[in-house]
Amino acid sequence: MRWTADQLYSGAARWAAIGELKQAVTSIPVLGNGDIWDVTDAIAMVEQTGCDGVVVGRGCLGRPWLFRELAEAFAGKPITPPPGLREIGSIMIDHAELLVEQFGVERGIRSFRKHTSWYLKGFVVGSLARRRLNLTESVEEVAGVDLDQDFPGAAARTPRGHTHGPRPVKLPHHYLNDPDAMERLPPGASLAVSGG
Ligand SMILES: Cc1cc2nc3c(=O)[nH]c(=O)nc-3n(C[C@H](O)[C@H](O)[C@H](O)COP(=O)(O)O)c2cc1C
Repeated sequence: MRWTADQLYSGAARWAAIGELKQAVTSIPVLGNGDIWDVTDAIAMVEQTGCDGVVVGRGCLGRPWLFRELAEAFAGKPITPPPGLREIGSIMIDHAELLVEQFGVERGIRSFRKHTSWYLKGFVVGSLARRRLNLTESVEEVAGVDLDQDFPGAAARTPRGHTHGPRPVKLPHHYLNDPDAMERLPPGASLAVSGG
């Protein structure tokens, strides 16, 4: 069996294993995770595995309204159509402002840059505007772009996040055979940052 960190998103999530887990575990809810890019995936995951709910990773990158769609789908309500580019522009600004509020301008904006390409995936934006947004130093409007574009549906399924796995993970010697290894990490070796 390979380790998830080593696979770095290569291959496909084994939903059958989630189904087996759900059969075996009856005392607590089981949440399914892996390769949920849109509402149809989420419904298929629940139908195929019997899991009690789903967890989304890469599917919400550049598509935060996916959670609204999931809530609507599981409540049996009609799904609100995805935003067009004009509304996405204002969602991007809100997102960037929240990051700046949380982390300050330098780290917040740097961290936002990767989100711009996810938000704009599938839209006709032009390489210059994309480049500007990737270099931006401040929260600014999506300028020079035709904002009257509907959401390009198929782009929602384009893989986002890391796409160059598998990649070897370096661990301290004997780390995986030693249950107490975490206790002995040198100070600063474990950072409170997401591994995504
Ligand atoms: C931005 C991001 C950050 C993540 N951070 C972590 C993390 O800190 N620890 C972890 O175990 N998994 C982390 N994951 C992995 C997810 O929890 C999830 O298991 C994985 O992305 C597979 O689901 P997906 O196919 O919906 O992306 C992260 C994923 C993403 C996209």
